[in-house]
Amino acid sequence: MNKKICILNGSPRMNGNTKELIKKFTEGAKESGNEVVCFDLQKMDIHGCLGCCKGGKDELCPCVQKDDMMKIYPVYKEADIVVLASPMYYWGITGQLKIAFDRLFAVAELDKNYRNPKKDCILLMAAEGDTESNFAPVKAFYEGLISNLGWKNIGIVYAGGNMDIGDILNKKDQLEEAKNLGISI
Ligand SMILES: Cc1cc2nc3c(=O)[nH]c(=O)nc-3n(C[C@H](O)[C@H](O)[C@H](O)COP(=O)(O)O)c2cc1C
Repeated sequence: MNKKICILNGSPRMNGNTKELIKKFTEGAKESGNEVVCFDLQKMDIHGCLGCCKGGKDELCPCVQKDDMMKIYPVYKEADIVVLASPMYYWGITGQLKIAFDRLFAVAELDKNYRNPKKDCILLMAAEGDTESNFAPVKAFYEGLISNLGWKNIGIVYAGGNMDIGDILNKKDQLEEAKNLGISI
């Protein structure tokens, strides 16, 4: 209730399965009175981290690269919850999402001890495969990431069995799971 939610959408397909999960999650989260901002990373001009470690000098715009991350930083900083939404690509998140996430390091650089702002986190993922072993690598990545950041996982939707655009529309249980997760916030 009354939480600020920042969704980072790593899917390049604007009407794909991940987007359907996002739509349902957002519907639920708004129903419960939360504020949701979604960034479709594919449509944004975001460059890979340069590894220069020279960021963190400017509160509003902490990275040395002045691209569309400047739109994400203020929303990310204010957010109580960060949603990582992505199709599974090669048993991981997409490049679009990884590139944006790496750039959040500039926010940690604002702290002299490189502490990341504390967030709750959610993973929404669409994939073709539908087995536990298919999701195991990304589960390990996500759990490792948030535990090292000191974040808290508050929900995961693994939506397997979805390859083509629209496949997920036949999976009412997965869409319901995403909506209920939104409502639960
Ligand atoms: C480059 C690429 C790599 C993929 N790798 C995997 C994979 O490792 N495991 C899997 O289950 N599905 C994989 N898929 C299938 C997508 O995860 C699936 O089509 C998903 O529903 C796409 O989500 P979207 O509609 O939001 O784009 C891959 C698809 C592409 C294009």
